[in-house]
Amino acid sequence: MLAGFATIEGTARYRDRFPQLRDAGHFRRPECTSGGGQLWLSSIGLGTYLGEPDDVTDSAYTEAIVTALRSGINVLDTAINYRHQRSERNIGAALRQLIDAGELQRDEVLVCTKAGYLSFDGSMPADPRGYFRCEYVEPGILDPQQLAGGMHCMTPRFLENQIERSCHNLGLHTIDLFYVHNPESQLADVPHDVFRRRLKDAFITLERAVKEGKIRCYGVATWNAFRVAEGTRDYINLFEAADIAREAGGDHHHFQFVQLPFNLAMPEGYGLANQTHAKEKMSVLTAASRLGIVVMGSATLHQGQLTHGLPDFIGKILGMKNDAENAIQFSRSAPGVTTALIGMGHKEHVVANLQATFVPPATPEEWVKLFIQR
Ligand SMILES: NC(=O)c1ccc[n+]([C@@H]2O[C@H](COP(=O)([O-])OP(=O)(O)OC[C@H]3O[C@@H](n4cnc5c(N)ncnc54)[C@H](OP(=O)(O)O)[C@@H]3O)[C@@H](O)[C@H]2O)c1
Repeated sequence: MLAGFATIEGTARYRDRFPQLRDAGHFRRPECTSGGGQLWLSSIGLGTYLGEPDDVTDSAYTEAIVTALRSGINVLDTAINYRHQRSERNIGAALRQLIDAGELQRDEVLVCTKAGYLSFDGSMPADPRGYFRCEYVEPGILDPQQLAGGMHCMTPRFLENQIERSCHNLGLHTIDLFYVHNPESQLADVPHDVFRRRLKDAFITLERAVKEGKIRCYGVATWNAFRVAEGTRDYINLFEAADIAREAGGDHHHFQFVQLPFNLAMPEGYGLANQTHAKEKMSVLTAASRLGIVVMGSATLHQGQLTHGLPDFIGKILGMKNDAENAIQFSRSAPGVTTALIGMGHKEHVVANLQATFVPPATPEEWVKLFIQR
């Protein structure tokens, strides 16, 4: 197990190994009101969601992660359920390889993972229900009464168990950033007051995990929660989530990050004023900035769909070499997005996507033209 965690000094050291990228504005230091903020983070991060749960995909992912870490990407995003825990293990293998070779230090990289969904171990078992019964229900880790949609849980006991498993998969003593994965899934099953209580219990658990040195900070990684209209069933108000964190951890709580899809086809984080605070309406990017919460954008390429066929006006405004680069430039240049996460299971995509990061991000003036010029 590797000791340590991402630090200001370590991430600055990493940034300085890539002077050309540094000078092009590829590394950002997000303002964060408490704890582990202020790290130097790359403007694109490597995501590990897609791909088959097999050995060939494992090798390709490990190679892609090694290439990314060698080339200027120091944000890695995963979840325990991605590819039945294999993606976490691929990150662990890549980190171990580079650290053993003296090419990387633990404190240079932000490793982010998530829990909430039930996950298998490496492959789908012959009897999935039996697996969950033996592995989770009988040892008392999972209370079926607290399961939403038959697959989502965020109880203290379950989260503690998932943190232990993720540390083991990643080969790390400490996870830099731990997200509750799609907490809005619970809202399909339970009313708001029950959801609020469950989220508070989850945050209390994560505050304790910070104190114990198992995680450095936490957040919520979402799909719909911050992109839907207020009043929609799976909507979450970020100000309320921050209030819950304050109740759980006081003014110096460790709820420091949110993740939401942000791409050319899903720009709601910027364009939809669905966050109300003291009667003022604003987008979630503005809300996060007011709260000192760092935003990670996911699905930058809309799961690969934005790599071709974009309308010409986008390239004319952003001026990158191809559609994939324009889509990346859009997400990494958004005001308030620190890192745009791109799923990259192949090193060829890492090499190609890094090309975009040698170009400075679009200025706010250029970027906003995308919303007015057609
Ligand atoms: N709710 C959540 O928490 C949530 C939801 C969605 C995503 N995420 C995170 O965000 C990450 C990114 O989202 P995503 O993986 O769903 O989608 P994405 O980043 O929009 O797209 C990934 C897909 O694009 C392909 N690709 C990458 N670069 C390419 C290029 N230059 N040309 C052509 N194809 C390219 C990848 O292929 P290869 O894999 O073959 O390289 C992969 O199939 C995820 O991996 C995950 O870590 C979180």
